[in-house]
Amino acid sequence: MGMKVLVTGGCGYIGSHTSVALLQAGFAVVLFDNLSNSTSAVLGPIARLGGPKVTLVQGDVRQPDDLAQVFADHRFDAVIHFAGLKAVSESVQVPLNYYEHNVSGTLQLLRAMDVAGVRRLVFSSSATVYAEDAACPLNESAALDATNPYGRSKLMCEQLLCDVQAADPRWQVAVLRYFNPVGAHPSGEMGELPIGVPQNLMPMITQATKGLRPHLSIFGDDYPTPDGTAVRDYIHVQDLAAGHVAALAYMAHQDKGLTVNLGTGRGVSVKEMIDTFERVNAVQVPYRWAARRAGDVAVRFADVGLAQQLMGWRAQLSLDEMCRDAWRWQTTGAGAP
Ligand code: NAD
Ligand code: WQD
Repeated sequence: MGMKVLVTGGCGYIGSHTSVALLQAGFAVVLFDNLSNSTSAVLGPIARLGGPKVTLVQGDVRQPDDLAQVFADHRFDAVIHFAGLKAVSESVQVPLNYYEHNVSGTLQLLRAMDVAGVRRLVFSSSATVYAEDAACPLNESAALDATNPYGRSKLMCEQLLCDVQAADPRWQVAVLRYFNPVGAHPSGEMGELPIGVPQNLMPMITQATKGLRPHLSIFGDDYPTPDGTAVRDYIHVQDLAAGHVAALAYMAHQDKGLTVNLGTGRGVSVKEMIDTFERVNAVQVPYRWAARRAGDVAVRFADVGLAQQLMGWRAQLSLDEMCRDAWRWQTTGAGAP
């Protein structure tokens, strides 16, 4: 193939796994990352697992000069844009940071791509763009709305990407709406590196079980679900990575963009996740019941039909594998907290 892809935020959790999948599919990869939430040490595992056609450029998507330089130094066939900030509660505290990194960063990237004549993009969006009261399973035409600055920054990016494609048909954008990415590379060499106290369920489970946190709080026991705990659509990061390769293949073959959910289509409750984690790993998760977390919805899972229909992609890995790989990373991963 000989195609080269720029991966912004490529040293991060989803970017590192996707980079391995790209290398394995025959792409050359340039990681572009400011290392604000990751480390360059991940380059070793990426090259070991995926192959040597990978380099790291340290740069910031908010800086036009950094972007101009990387596009001057390489001829890219496509860009995958992961770089940005992703913590919902932090976005409420420092919204300007979120609009700057996520919206302004995306704008700067699009400008640089346009100048360089590279107009094929895969964009990391989120299930958080769906309106709270939209019915599950959520399909791509469900109502959109966001309830916090992080979600609004993703929605704004989706809207500006839509406008750019409408104005110039040379643009092809794959908007991928991730549900709840969890798990780690099965080698145990790569995984998530949450900074500080994790906000998300899976890193909280692994850290509490490891003894790094006193316990896991289960937020809410009175949701209208079979066991009273909230339901989400957890997807293995390896399946998510494969979804990005599928999106690039779709655009190359169909010569157009798309917007699809990346999930499993199956809802899993917090309690089911804990029970599965305990069974698969033969451990006990120290947990306590707590009040509902503000802003949480009861049930959220994807309709995954469109991704399968358009890209021929569907998630392959089970909840057992998500739990096994997350725990392997927590217990044996070199960079795990
Ligand atoms: P991550 O924090 O692990 O990775 C993001 C990477 O981007 C990091 O390596 C960070 O150093 C880098 N970065 C941040 N700001 C930058 C900037 N201005 N310039 C250059 N690099 C910058 O996060 P992740 O979980 O891998 O998420 C990747 C993308 O997927 C994000 O856009 C996120 O919003 C989106 N997303 C994540 C989830 C999730 O639950 N993890 C769900 C839906 C969508
Ligand atoms: C899952 C469930 C919690 C922690 C968030 C973002 C979303 C996307 C993915 C980026 C909920 C419960 C959690 C804990 C718990 N990210 N929980 N105890 O809220 O579905 O989605 O991450 O785009 O935008 O909002 O994921 O992992 O935080 O929570 O009981 O210590 O686990 O209440 O029901 P969420 P999560």
